[in-house]
Amino acid sequence: MLRLPALPKRFQAASVWALYALGLLPAVWTFYLGATGQLVGNPVKIFEHLLGEWALRFLILTLLISPIRDIFGINWVRYRRALGLLAFYYVAMHFVTYMILDKRLAIDVIIEDIIKRWFITIGMAAFILLIPLALTSNRWSIRKLGQGWVKLHKLIYPIAAAGALHYCLSVKVIGPEQLIYAALITVLIGWRLVRPRYMERKRAQRQVRGEPGLQNPQTE
Ligand code: HEM
Repeated sequence: MLRLPALPKRFQAASVWALYALGLLPAVWTFYLGATGQLVGNPVKIFEHLLGEWALRFLILTLLISPIRDIFGINWVRYRRALGLLAFYYVAMHFVTYMILDKRLAIDVIIEDIIKRWFITIGMAAFILLIPLALTSNRWSIRKLGQGWVKLHKLIYPIAAAGALHYCLSVKVIGPEQLIYAALITVLIGWRLVRPRYMERKRAQRQVRGEPGLQNPQTE
């Protein structure tokens, strides 16, 4: 088991806020470059692309928190909510950029796109599913919903799969970038499926060695 030095308690909240600030930096910086005419090519497309890619990256990072703890014993659970919310903020900005800067609020065109272009339909479905997760990502909802909260937040897996599929379908030819995102998300979903057996085996091995038990997976 890997042992990292624990972050002093007084820095823990600050580290989460630092993650939010750092996480939003690519969007703020690229927006600034675009607004000041420093993006070469099509600034709207570049911004839309950047937001979509960062949304996927944050979805992947959110999904990585649990296997990192299970396999290496590194507990970064305190960052999971920030990572999930950053994914949501990036999808929301991607959507707003598409609506306002790309389609200039031509509602009929937007509705036609969502209905007729499959990759946009799938992206939209993923965005809609992310909304309840973002709205219930607070302590009050966790307490109020109990096991329902755990079930609801498992939606993050189909959402990530839909995000990767949306990315693959948005291009004419699937290249290495799309394949890498799709492969990472497939592995993370695969991990979730084999996790109960892995944790059971780990628990049994710990019992044999007389070590303290693992946390109940239902509460994670
Ligand atoms: C979880 C939700 C979503 C994720 C993770 C996501 C991610 C991505 C990524 C990575 C790309 C490729 C970037 C590019 O090559 O331009 C992309 C493209 C695109 N997305 Fe999304 N997206 C999501 C939802 C949406 C929604 C809700 C819409 C609009 C209704 C949308 C509209 C588009 C469009 C129009 C493109 C193509 C841009 C172009 O023409 O190059 N996406 N998205």
